[in-house]
Amino acid sequence: MPAVDAQRHLLGLDGMDRSRLVSLLERARSFDDGTGRATRGGEHAELLRGQNVCNLFFEDSTRTRVSFSLAATNLGAGVIDLTAPGSSVTKGETIIDTANVVEATGGDALVIRSSAPGAAQSVARHVGVPVINAGDGAHEHPTQGLLDIYALASALGRADAFELSGRTVASVGDSISSRVARSDFFGMITRGARGMCVGPPTLAPPALRAMGCAVSSDLDAVLGEADAVQMLRLQFERHGGSGERVPPGVGSLREYRALYSLTSERAASMKPGAFVMHPGPVNRGLELDGAVADGGRSIILKQVSAGVLVRMAVLAELLG
Ligand code: ASP
Ligand code: CP
Repeated sequence: MPAVDAQRHLLGLDGMDRSRLVSLLERARSFDDGTGRATRGGEHAELLRGQNVCNLFFEDSTRTRVSFSLAATNLGAGVIDLTAPGSSVTKGETIIDTANVVEATGGDALVIRSSAPGAAQSVARHVGVPVINAGDGAHEHPTQGLLDIYALASALGRADAFELSGRTVASVGDSISSRVARSDFFGMITRGARGMCVGPPTLAPPALRAMGCAVSSDLDAVLGEADAVQMLRLQFERHGGSGERVPPGVGSLREYRALYSLTSERAASMKPGAFVMHPGPVNRGLELDGAVADGGRSIILKQVSAGVLVRMAVLAELLG
């Protein structure tokens, strides 16, 4: 099996060196119109003309899929957009065969989302074009990690160097199943932040300390010290079975909400100037109140806008 050259792809933030991380964020900033959104037109609009970016999404998505498409379009590339329903995956074709087919038709980069940890890495071993991991099971979601650093550093007034030293970022909820929490921690710790996982011991187990973060089961105790809280969705789909099966150790959703939801009352006890984050999709009333999601501390939509910028940066780095 051929080794994967990590620099030719974006498979994760675990092990990414500081210079590549900062260079991607700086490139993202070069596309920022000053409001956190992508500048329309300009020199970069032709950068990837003649190239095709292929979204291969075998798991549902709104933000990541739309923003990769827009990022490619903003750089002048064509977009091919494939999802599992409606593709020949439903006839039994594997992800690797699908990726080879798309490359053979003229795809110049493959953006892969799958419920299987390691899916993007496996594809990268079998194709000749750059592969971007758009979320692989509970493993990593590297562009989410980048966009979260971008949005938070911008909100903190630190977008000059995207440096987070002296800041504490708490991921709250289902950290054990969250590829977002993992990529956030790998990226944010590289940028100097102190990471915390907060949640029921089954979803934020002490073993997560191996990732370099502190672990707590007491949200109320953490709120006064965190500079940002990233409220995680309960990953029902990763706890076996379908529908809203309550994750192990959670008792009931009512109990979960009582202990770990960022309600308006709890948000009032946050550190002054602290920010509320959420990778989306938001389940209003469960991981946080709608009023908090829409409130003055929330940078949730800034995260979404930053997603277009960092995905432009990644495509420009790998294809430009
Ligand atoms: N959208 C993020 C992901 O795909 C977070 C979530 O779905 O809860 O990992
Ligand atoms: N944050 C995130 O990945 O959202 P989607 O699942 O909607 O792409």
